[in-house]
Amino acid sequence: MSKRSAPASPVRAKDRFLVFGAPDIQEAEVREVVDSMTSGWLGTGPKVARFERDFAAYVGAQHAVALNSCTAALHLSLLAAGIGPGDEVITTALTFCATVNAVLHAGARPVLADVDPRTMNLDARDVARKITPRTRALLPVHFAGRPCDMDAIMGIATRHDLRVIEDCAHAIETEWRGRHVGTFGEYGCFSFYVTKNVATGEGGMVIARREEDAAQIKILGLHGMSKDAWKRFGDEGYKHYRVVAAGFKYNMMDLQAAIGLHQLVRVDAAWRRRREIWSRYEEAFAGLPVERPAPPDPETKHAFHLYTILVDEARAGVTRDAFLEAMTREGIGVGVHYASLPEHPYYREALGWSPEDTPEATRIGRRTVSLPISPKLGDDDVEDVIAAVRRSLGD
Ligand SMILES: Cc1ncc(COP(=O)(O)O)c(C=O)c1O
Repeated sequence: MSKRSAPASPVRAKDRFLVFGAPDIQEAEVREVVDSMTSGWLGTGPKVARFERDFAAYVGAQHAVALNSCTAALHLSLLAAGIGPGDEVITTALTFCATVNAVLHAGARPVLADVDPRTMNLDARDVARKITPRTRALLPVHFAGRPCDMDAIMGIATRHDLRVIEDCAHAIETEWRGRHVGTFGEYGCFSFYVTKNVATGEGGMVIARREEDAAQIKILGLHGMSKDAWKRFGDEGYKHYRVVAAGFKYNMMDLQAAIGLHQLVRVDAAWRRRREIWSRYEEAFAGLPVERPAPPDPETKHAFHLYTILVDEARAGVTRDAFLEAMTREGIGVGVHYASLPEHPYYREALGWSPEDTPEATRIGRRTVSLPISPKLGDDDVEDVIAAVRRSLGD
C-alpha cells in the first residue's frame, strides 16, 4: 500500500460536492407542498392527521402524534411518562445530544451506560449495573438503524418496574424479531430531520400504546390547549379552546407533513437502495485497514440509516480527523455519529461525566466516520465514495 498526501485532483470537482445525507425529494412531494401553499392551509391540519394515520399503519402502532422534531417527541414522552426531578433515566453514551437534553429538560438526570462494541447499541449488562433506587426509565437508541436487544431491555424494565421510551430517530424501518421498534416501550420517538430515512426538513413523531398518552402528548405539543384546538380556524366555524396545561409549541405543519406523506410511500424502495449501497461498500472495503459495521443480526431488520467505519490510526496509518479532511478534499461529505457524550464540555461540567466511564463509546466516537448512504446516490456517486475512501487511506 503506497501512502500519499493530497492527491493532484479530487475524485469529485468542488461544484459536484456530494452532500452527506442529502434527502431524496421527488415530484410528488413538490406537488403536495405546492397544494398546501395554494390551499393556504400551511400549519397543522388535515395532512398532519393523514401523516399520523399512515405512519401508525406503517409501524403497526395504535396511536401516533406528529411533532416538529424527535427532540420534542422525546421531551413530551418523558413528561407524559411522569419523569421529572429526582428521577434517573439510563441511556447510551453513543447518541446525539438531543437524547439527553430531552431528559434534562424534563428535569430528570440522564445516566449513561456503555455500548456493546459490536452492535454499538446499549450494553444491557452495563444498563443493569447503572440501576439505582432513583432509576425510573430506560431510553434505548437504535443506533444507525440497528435494533437494540429489546428482549434484554424489556426484561430489565420489567424486573425493575421501569418505563421504556425508545429513541427511534435512526430506526423508521427497524424491526426486532418481526416487530417494529418503537412499539416495545410505552413511547417510540422518530425523527424526520433532513438526513433521516423519511425527511420533512424538521419533524418528529411519537407513537404511543395508550390513547390517553397520545392525547396528552397532542395537548402538550400545542400550548396545552384542549383537544383539536388546531381546528379552531377551520371551515366548521370558530372553536373555543381551554388551556389545560402549560404546554409547548411543538406541532408539525401541513407543509412538513406534505413532504412526509410521499417520503413514507417510498420508504421501502429507499430502504432497498440503502441496502444495495451498504452491500457495495461491504464488498469494496473488505480488504481495507478499517473496521466495518457488523452485519445486520438475524431476526432483525436494520434500517441502514448510517454506514460507519472505524479509522484507527495504528491500523489505517491515518488519523480519523485527517481522514475526514481528506474525504472533504475529495469532494465527499462525511459525518461523525457521534463523539461520545462525555466528550462535550457541558456534560462534563454540569454532570461530571468522563470519557473513561464509558470506554467503548469513547473508543468508537474517536474513530467513527459515516459515509453517504442516501437513496439519492447514483451508482457513480457510490463508486466516487469508494474511490475517495481508498485514496484517503493512501491505498
Ligand atoms: C439518536 C437521535 N436522537 C434524537 C435526535 C433528534 O432528532 P430531531 O433533530 O428530529 O430533533 C437525533 C437527530 O439527529 C438523533 O440522531
